[in-house]
Amino acid sequence: MHNIHSIEDLRNRARRRLPAMVFDFIEGGALDELTLRRNREALDAHLLTQRVLVDTSQRHATTSILGTRLDLPLVVSPMGLLTVCHPDADVAIARAAATAGSVFVHSPWSGCSLEEVTDAAPGRVWAQIAFWNDAAETRRHIDRAQVLGIDTLVVAGDVAVSSKRDRDLRHGTGMPPRPPLRDVVNTALHPGWVLRWLLGRSMTWGNYRIDGRAIRMREMEAWMERNENQTATWDDIARLRSSWTGNIVVKGVMTPEDSRLAIEHGADGVFVSNHGGRQFDSQQATIEALPGVVDAVDGRAAVIVDGGVRRGSDIAKALSLGADAAAAGRPFALGLAAAGQAGVDRAFEVLHDELLTVMGFLGVTRVDEMPCTLVDSTGLRLEAAVAAIEASQ
Ligand SMILES: Cc1cc2nc3c(=O)[nH]c(=O)nc-3n(C[C@H](O)[C@H](O)[C@H](O)COP(=O)(O)O)c2cc1C
Repeated sequence: MHNIHSIEDLRNRARRRLPAMVFDFIEGGALDELTLRRNREALDAHLLTQRVLVDTSQRHATTSILGTRLDLPLVVSPMGLLTVCHPDADVAIARAAATAGSVFVHSPWSGCSLEEVTDAAPGRVWAQIAFWNDAAETRRHIDRAQVLGIDTLVVAGDVAVSSKRDRDLRHGTGMPPRPPLRDVVNTALHPGWVLRWLLGRSMTWGNYRIDGRAIRMREMEAWMERNENQTATWDDIARLRSSWTGNIVVKGVMTPEDSRLAIEHGADGVFVSNHGGRQFDSQQATIEALPGVVDAVDGRAAVIVDGGVRRGSDIAKALSLGADAAAAGRPFALGLAAAGQAGVDRAFEVLHDELLTVMGFLGVTRVDEMPCTLVDSTGLRLEAAVAAIEASQ
């Protein structure tokens, strides 16, 4: 890992190691990928301001969110089917998250079961749930989380409708995959990946069962068709609130209105996310949506934001706009693909080091000393950041 200095370095290594169809599955977004790109462009358009002659020798990035202590204000966003990157999949990421003092959010579409990741990273796992058509399936998932001592459920809010991802359609990526000849050839040219896949964990959904065993790839489509639920509403959050004593975080919140609804229906946290541009294209970047959410939440719930975080400075920008923590998906999936757990460990190290460096330039020693002033490219102070500073004083 000595020549990996950035998330981009991990991405380049992952690109070499993965068949094109797998790399594109991780990297790609919906339709024209406008939102995918915008997440990055908007982060780049927010600039931080340097302070000088401040003693920052004792910097640390420790914080806490929803009762969980974090060594850095960054959690792992939920990601399904990570088995395609590396057979150690979620278990490797959960272990790396625990080592880094972070939290791993386990996806319902994961290749590994909730039990496996909790075993690998006790106290460091939050469980994502979806409201399935089969309410008993949802209930079983919640009960398992409770038995495992998980204290935070992250509700998938933005998955009622399946998205269209052109890259995946071109590669024939699906459940099961139907790749064209060029992808079969391209995959054969990645023997390391093929071997890991043949010898390692099979590509099942480890979290749900059919006849007592994990769901196989060819069964996934039919399972999803039976369980995909477009009728879930805020009432389901209220019902969940009445039966779950731990934290509830709603993921996919992009507006002040939905933030208020989340709190009214009992959520303890909102997760500002556009699914990394993978679901609904043509919507705002998350960093653009964040100030409105922070304003509407007004300190009544925790705010987490993901989408395009690739540098420690991106975490600082999220916190400067009032988020309690940032989250990231692809950096960890790409780290996993690049080198298994060592790649994920490296992703955490890089982001942690970069955050501490940027804090030195910002003149802060603790993450709760952010918000710091943000400016746009003309040097104008961004009002949302100014409001966040005033609110924190
Ligand atoms: C391969 C992959 C699988 C994903 N699976 C899920 C999922 O199961 N549930 C979910 O809420 N979001 C899922 N997401 C979205 C992430 O949770 C997160 O919102 C997004 O990756 C953040 O953007 P970033 O990748 O730029 O950090 C997935 C993202 C990727 C890249």
